[in-house]
Amino acid sequence: MIGHQAEKLEELVSASAKESVKKSKKTRFIAITSGKGGVGKSTISSNLAYCLSQKGINVGIFDADIGLANLDVMFNVKIKKNILHVLKGEATVADILIPITRNLILIPGESGDEILKYSDMALFERFMEEAQVLDKLDVMIIDTGAGIGEHIQMFLNAADDVIVVTVPDPAAITDAYATIKTIATLRNDISMILNQVKNEKEAVAVFGKIKKVADANIGKGLDLRLIGKINADIKVSSSVKKRALFSAEYPTSQVGRDIGEIVNKIVSKLERNVLVTSNESGLSGLFKRLIEHF
Ligand SMILES: Nc1ncnc2c1ncn2[C@@H]1O[C@H](COP(=O)(O)OP(=O)(O)O)[C@@H](O)[C@H]1O
Ligand SMILES: [Mg+2]
Repeated sequence: MIGHQAEKLEELVSASAKESVKKSKKTRFIAITSGKGGVGKSTISSNLAYCLSQKGINVGIFDADIGLANLDVMFNVKIKKNILHVLKGEATVADILIPITRNLILIPGESGDEILKYSDMALFERFMEEAQVLDKLDVMIIDTGAGIGEHIQMFLNAADDVIVVTVPDPAAITDAYATIKTIATLRNDISMILNQVKNEKEAVAVFGKIKKVADANIGKGLDLRLIGKINADIKVSSSVKKRALFSAEYPTSQVGRDIGEIVNKIVSKLERNVLVTSNESGLSGLFKRLIEHF
């Protein structure tokens, strides 16, 4: 009985979350980045996007990893054209969108630095006009490449939230810290997800170390937060191999609950921002912001 009531309550809360998020006119841009490659950015981006969409939130996920765009593999979909075709004028934004679920669309990226030739203002402006098809999105997740190249910095600067993913090995931690130090010159709020940890205790300990070094060297002005962890689990890697999403396959397992907690934090952040209205929605909003930083 109590379980049933709790479920009902959860349903109500989630329905009101959905409503309040929908009232918001602004798309929230969440950039996922890391110092080192292979730490789980695409795994986390795709599962996060999927879980948010399952809550009735309109989600877009943009594959912005120029070295290794692979979200098509994560979602097990075939891509014909991508953002490069749009920038070259060979396709419209609407042409390249891949629907994943009812509330989730993928904006395919391009692996290869040819795309950097097209990063001039006039093209972005044309792109922006077309990107209005994306204005209904509540959230846009941007899966960036590792490291801190110039084009990645633009995204990190323009996003509402930047999440740095790391695993607990020393080399990855060093690279994550270097990335945080650079991002801290662009903004004063950075979130972290500790991936492939043994448990919460390890996540908190590793985060504590990074935070201590950041406080001492970057300064207290930086608001560095841990928004969650995901345990190391063969369920995650086997799902990736099968081109499936672990959050869909094992929602009640520990890793399913781990991502669920991160999703809940993001949803409550979205709710707190309901009063923010702006015409900077969709991809056009993002590109407006990007251009401001040129
Ligand atoms: N929590 C985890 N537990 C086990 N394996 C993981 C976990 N997260 C990621 N992996 C493995 O790491 C690999 C690299 O992850 P990926 O998301 O592609 O990294 P990135 O996008 O940062 O390069 C995945 O293919 C998966 O096998
Ligand atoms: Mg990746």
